[in-house]
Amino acid sequence: MLTFRKLSWAASLCGLVLLALGLCRAQSSGGAAEDPAKAALLKLPLLLGTDWYPEQWPETRWDEDLRLMEAAHIRVVRITEFAWSRMEPSEGQYSFDWLDRVIAKAAQYHIAVVLGTPTATPPAWLTQKYPETLRVLDTGQRDTHGNRAQGSVTSAVYLRFCRDIAERMAERYGHNANVLGWQIDNEYGYANISYDDTTRQQFQDWLKAKYKTLDNLNARWTTAYWSETYDNWSEIPLPIGGHNPGLLLDWDRFITAAWDAYQRVQIDVIRQHVDPKQFITGNLMGFFEGQDYFVLSAPLTMASWDNYVGTGHMRVDSIGMTHDVVRGYKRQNFWVIETQPGAVNWAPVNNFLNKGEVRAVAWQDVGHGADEVGYWQWRSALNGQEEYHGTLIGPDGTPVPLYDEVAQLGRDFETVGTTLQGTTPVSQVALLYSYDSRWAIDHQKHTVNYDSMALLTSYYHALRRLSQSVDVVSPYAPLDGYKVVVAPSLNVLPEDLAQHLLAYVRNGGHLVLGPRSGMKDEFNALLPQRQPGYLVEPLGGRVEQYYALEKDVPVTGIFGNGTGMIWAEQLSARAADTEVLMQYGKSNGWLDGQPGVITRKVGKGRITYIGTIFDDKTMAIAAQWIAQESGVTPALGPVPDGIEVCPRSGGGKQFFILINWAEETRHVTLPHAMKFLLAGSQGDSLDLAPYGVEVLLDAK
Ligand code: GLA
Ligand code: GLA
Repeated sequence: MLTFRKLSWAASLCGLVLLALGLCRAQSSGGAAEDPAKAALLKLPLLLGTDWYPEQWPETRWDEDLRLMEAAHIRVVRITEFAWSRMEPSEGQYSFDWLDRVIAKAAQYHIAVVLGTPTATPPAWLTQKYPETLRVLDTGQRDTHGNRAQGSVTSAVYLRFCRDIAERMAERYGHNANVLGWQIDNEYGYANISYDDTTRQQFQDWLKAKYKTLDNLNARWTTAYWSETYDNWSEIPLPIGGHNPGLLLDWDRFITAAWDAYQRVQIDVIRQHVDPKQFITGNLMGFFEGQDYFVLSAPLTMASWDNYVGTGHMRVDSIGMTHDVVRGYKRQNFWVIETQPGAVNWAPVNNFLNKGEVRAVAWQDVGHGADEVGYWQWRSALNGQEEYHGTLIGPDGTPVPLYDEVAQLGRDFETVGTTLQGTTPVSQVALLYSYDSRWAIDHQKHTVNYDSMALLTSYYHALRRLSQSVDVVSPYAPLDGYKVVVAPSLNVLPEDLAQHLLAYVRNGGHLVLGPRSGMKDEFNALLPQRQPGYLVEPLGGRVEQYYALEKDVPVTGIFGNGTGMIWAEQLSARAADTEVLMQYGKSNGWLDGQPGVITRKVGKGRITYIGTIFDDKTMAIAAQWIAQESGVTPALGPVPDGIEVCPRSGGGKQFFILINWAEETRHVTLPHAMKFLLAGSQGDSLDLAPYGVEVLLDAK
């Protein structure tokens, strides 16, 4: 064990040092390796990180911070994402000497650096002198200085300053051997876009580029309705509150496009100046609905996200599913570039995670494809908005109780970090996540109780228990490798997407559609067909009528006697070989005795349509049927309740990370003997204490 540990420590250190010396060469295998930044990432072992703000402390303190970090096996710090006023104290006057020394000093402690561009926090001189760089709220009021995200991403003046500071940083550190990569801005758009005339003009221009003619726009949005017809592009408003659904969906997409243009100004200028091995990322907010993260991830080297539990304790499924969508944004591993050291300061109740929970949460990150876990933050500033947030050291500069648990995680990572390098979760099941559909439903919910994310989670929960790994991907992602593809509320289903899904089905895949699917085109207009639109014909059935439910309806059939909740669609089976799997019981009269779930073989595959939202028990049985019908099997095999299995594989090796979320010790029996990498032993069964973790290598 000792030997193994030492070896892995040496190998991982070596990996970092090689990278730091710029000696890594792009691997020639695989598409990802053609990108030098991706190749460099693949060569990194698992990394433990933290977010550090040296500009908030006297320089005499830096050594002690770094010494304590190194002692906790922290190998990477993210810095500077809020340090604009320190780097450019007045217009055009730059101060980087201090940062030169921070980066050099970190290297002395074997800690690499990720540089954040500071554009979420413009300096006061900038917003004072150029007030148009401050965003305008939808109330018409202009934002003020002193919080963050007050800059307007549609302001050309603001973009000029953002580009400039990013360029200065890139010129100076783009070839610094201790800089691994870059983070653009911070949590794009959690305070959204500016409602000013510039934005309105850009929205109109964006629409003009998309629709070409006003006749086309008027037709797609059906503006004959309520005298909305536009005779001039300049008449088109920014929506405040409810609005035309076509305009609203385009407004959502425009916001994404505006943020994308904003980030690309920085990405482009950084790429011009830096070593191609330095990566570029952005700290996304998981399932944040404000922008389409498939679009925003495209120009990044990798996605990363900020994983916070908030009030309460670990939500295994919803956080697991969030990891899986972040992996899905670029269909590759990612970083958890921020996570919670015990407690946050912004939730309704900022309780502390239990002893052991922080480490287990980090192992779930890794189990779902994270290659770095970074604690926000190292130490609280003595003043500032987040004084109460969790940290790794206290206001006195010495470790808090959690520090030792994080240091243990650091030792874990050093034990297995090099071995897991280059591995990723592989799944038989894909859930489709569509921003268009989520936005379209949220703009016209029809019942306040319809929550498309809750429905996604309910499918995720049921299917992950059976398969032990699920991908969450864009509906337009390549689907060939999946045994089943599930789209719980694919409301916006234009013809090209229907063809893409149908090709998957004809080729042998099983497509499962949930309620509200196939209702809208890409302009958020009703399709002139019944649901599921272009898939009615192959399904051999359709939605005759949908009903928002005031009370549950009974459903019965091959999934047993269950309950339909919130939404129910009265289906019909119109082809001779379309089977009815479930029917509604006595309800509103319309639904009584009518089909609620239908399925049909199509080509080498199958389409199933589920018209309601099941209770958990029925959902579990439906998932069993889906898995069986599609040939989905558990990655490892049956495990007791509360044990999460996270498979990662690659390079001919198969690993399983096991985490015990139950409150009691669990005994897990394996299909055959495996190596236990953390314990340094092996066997065909193991006990895991609450929050216990083991990394299994399946040598078979
Ligand atoms: C009101 C309005 C109509 C229509 C209906 C819908 O009566 O006058 O235009 O919006 O509500 O219920
Ligand atoms: C976000 C931000 C950080 C910090 C944390 C606190 O993730 O990116 O700067 O405010 O929240 O939880």
